[in-house]
Amino acid sequence: MPNPPTPLILDVDTGVDDAFALMLAARHPDLELRAVTCVAGNAAVDQVVANTLYVLDTAGAREVPVARGAARPLLAPPHDAGHVHGADGLGGFARPSDRRASSLSAVALLRQELLRAIGAGEKVTLVPLAPQTNIALLLRTYPEVAGGIERIVFMGGSASGGNATAAAEFNMWHDPEAAAIVLAACAELSIPVTMYGLDVFQRVTVDGDDAARLRDLPDPAAQLAAALIDQQRALFGQETCRIGDAGAVCAVLDPEGLGVSTFPVRVEVAPGLTRGQTIVDRRTWHGDHRAPSTTPKHGQGQGISSYSTAPVVPAATVDVALEVDAARYAALWLSAFGA
Ligand code: BDR
Ligand code: CA
Repeated sequence: MPNPPTPLILDVDTGVDDAFALMLAARHPDLELRAVTCVAGNAAVDQVVANTLYVLDTAGAREVPVARGAARPLLAPPHDAGHVHGADGLGGFARPSDRRASSLSAVALLRQELLRAIGAGEKVTLVPLAPQTNIALLLRTYPEVAGGIERIVFMGGSASGGNATAAAEFNMWHDPEAAAIVLAACAELSIPVTMYGLDVFQRVTVDGDDAARLRDLPDPAAQLAAALIDQQRALFGQETCRIGDAGAVCAVLDPEGLGVSTFPVRVEVAPGLTRGQTIVDRRTWHGDHRAPSTTPKHGQGQGISSYSTAPVVPAATVDVALEVDAARYAALWLSAFGA
């Protein structure tokens, strides 16, 4: 008997590559997209909601609930990524949807879906593809939802340098406090975590021939995907275009295509050049400075260096993606369109 489709929820800041992820999540028969929540990131949150509804319309997924979430990071000022995704977040291809967003907030919709999953004896894979503001608020407000989360597979971070800054990847840099809270909460609540960061995100690409094939299909999602691929190729002056966030959805569908290693990971929240950096502790020994490798238990100060007076940002034990079969993931993404 075939396996039932994997239930998942995306948290997005749509965004060109979030659009690619939404198309795959909505279309692939091995996935059941239960909800999409929106957050400020690549564009302002109302634009993100509008883009998400439109992309789901093109993918024929009008039944999937979409909720508006945080309009700004927890502490930091918001910064969009219009220089990459265009002023409208979709490279000039944003169009209005005749559908409305859920009356629930993002956190309320996440809570509803996760509690429903718990009630049904199920678990949902949560895939944050954006700054983690909504997820931090969810896990701190309603930690009881953890029992409904199979795993968090997030796009964000890097073990090898950033893109928003030399040190930090955009989603982490946009709301470092939220990202640090999410990792801490995952450690405390025993939620397994996979980090699909820049180390693999950069490598999965499609090209102009793929775009041409998509453009010829009688499928509005494929035609939008083709337009977005060509917009990104022109913007960066490259033959190829990254599928970006869609790779994290591939990681849910095909974890065997990913090479992961398990490390303690923290997010730097201090001001300065490394703010928002994911500190991936790849040491095989404790080192001279006994930085904690697990979250300290309340009141125990477990593993905290005796000579450190800095506040400790707790770590989570994370499966960090360091290798990817890029051709396999590109083919998997294209399969969502039958291309
Ligand atoms: C991430 O930031 C956004 O621009 C993309 O949508 C992706 O989620 C890459 O750093
Ligand atoms: Ca994104």
